[in-house]
Formats: sequence, C-alpha cells, structure tokens
Amino acid sequence: MNNANNTELPIGVFDSGVGGLTVLKALAAELPHEDLIYLGDTARLPYGTKSPASISRYACQAARLLQQREIKLLVVACNTATAVALDQLRAQLHPLPVIGVVGPGANAAVAARPGGRHLVLATEATVRLGAYRRAILELDPSASVQELACELLVSLAEEGWNDGPIPAAIIDRYLGSLGAAASGVNSVILGCTHFPLLRQAITAAFASNVSVVDSASTTAAVARNLLQNMGLAREIGHAGSMLLLATDGTSRFARVGGWFLGKKLSAGDVTLVDL
Ligand code: DGL
Repeated sequence: MNNANNTELPIGVFDSGVGGLTVLKALAAELPHEDLIYLGDTARLPYGTKSPASISRYACQAARLLQQREIKLLVVACNTATAVALDQLRAQLHPLPVIGVVGPGANAAVAARPGGRHLVLATEATVRLGAYRRAILELDPSASVQELACELLVSLAEEGWNDGPIPAAIIDRYLGSLGAAASGVNSVILGCTHFPLLRQAITAAFASNVSVVDSASTTAAVARNLLQNMGLAREIGHAGSMLLLATDGTSRFARVGGWFLGKKLSAGDVTLVDL
C-alpha cells in the first residue's frame, strides 16, 4: 500500500446493523478530519444468534463491498463479527489494516481493573467463541472472566426501551442465571454494540464500585494510533464526512440508528446497497 496516496481514502466501518453507529460516533469524535463510510448489514441482522459459518460469510461479503469502494482501514464495529471473523477478514483484505472491537474493549477493561473479576455481556455467538475471555486473559493472566449471553438486550435497545422496569427486570433475570457468581464481579464489559444504550440500566444492577466499560472510544483511539503510525492520517483542515450504507430498510435504519449515533437521521441520509 502506498501510504502517501492513501491518506485521503475513507475509513470503512462495518456492523451487522445500526449498533456499530456507537463506534462510528466515537470515530467521528476522535478523528474529525477523516471521511467515514459505514455499512450496516440490516438485511441479515442479528448476527449474534447465527452460526459462525454464516457470520463469517456475511462479514467477508460486507468487507468486500467496503474494500471495493477503496478504504484505508476497516473497523469491524460488530463484536460478533470481530469474535468470529477478525482473523479471516485480515487474511482476506491484506495488506489493508483491519481492527475489531474485542481487543480494544478487553484493553479498556483490564486498564480499569487490573486483576479484575470481569463479566462480559454479549451476544450468544460472541460468548460461545470466548473471544473476550481470551483477549482479557492474554493481557492479564491474573484476571477472571465470566461471559453471559443477553440476546434480549439487543431487541430492547432497538425498541428504545432503555430504562424503567422492563429492562431492569430483564437484566435481573439474566444476572440471576449466574447465581452467587455475579456478586463478586467488579468489572462489566458491554461486549455488544447495543449495550451502551442500556448503560444506565446495566450499571444500576451492580454495586456502585463496579466499573462498566464499552469498546467504542478505545477502538477509536486504536484507529487514530494506527493511522498515525502507518502514515495514513489525514491532514488537519479537512472536515470529515460520513456516508451511511445499509442492506435493508433505510427508514428504520434512520429512526433507530439516530439513537445510536446520537443525532437525528432521515431515510435520505442512508443509501441502500446489495452485497
Ligand atoms: N452488532 C452485534 C454485536 O456487537 C449485535 C447485534 C447482532 O446480533 O447482530 O455483537
């Protein structure tokens, strides 16, 4: 890759749907001079309940579309796609740099709680693959890690039911499945793109000294450092743009996605693409 010619290319960001817009928001804040192309695979959402074979296939197709549009970095904003397909995507897109959200999330948790007792809340597929467990224990062998699949929280966030008795009861029900083990936890990792919207309700379910981390801002910091180290960072002075692509439902993408991005969107802001 000839970096001098590539600084002006956009950063590609991919997720199974709108959840990764939490990561896009962090990238836009951290890298205001960069152009961003976001692809949400809304036609095939959710990934979290699918088999690894399907998730890999979907992730590779989405990445190919972004690669064809010419990008200088791919950010896999989806925890599930990162857990299942990060290595495969790196091999497929080489020499294009690819970063995922699991490593940065694990880093943030370990930095907040060295030797911590971490609880990872994520989708079924992310939990099944133990991606956070491996990433945390590699960084901090003295840590302990439990993982809990909380699929219903994805639907709650997309419904906008982020607070009140319904999410509180559902979170309690999930935590109840851990039994006494939940009480020793001192670090909670929001290992799914949707869970930052439920941060308050999740935080309220734990003691006040429990740290709650997500991977959005650490992933953006990793992207900034990588672009700088590779000589790919865009010059200050350019006002970064944002292009939103989806594989289905531009109106729903705009309505629900606006909550994740923290800004009002209309269907006209989203372009439909086929993979
Ligand atoms: N984006 C997914 C994740 O972060 C959540 C939604 C889904 O299951 O596709 O794991």
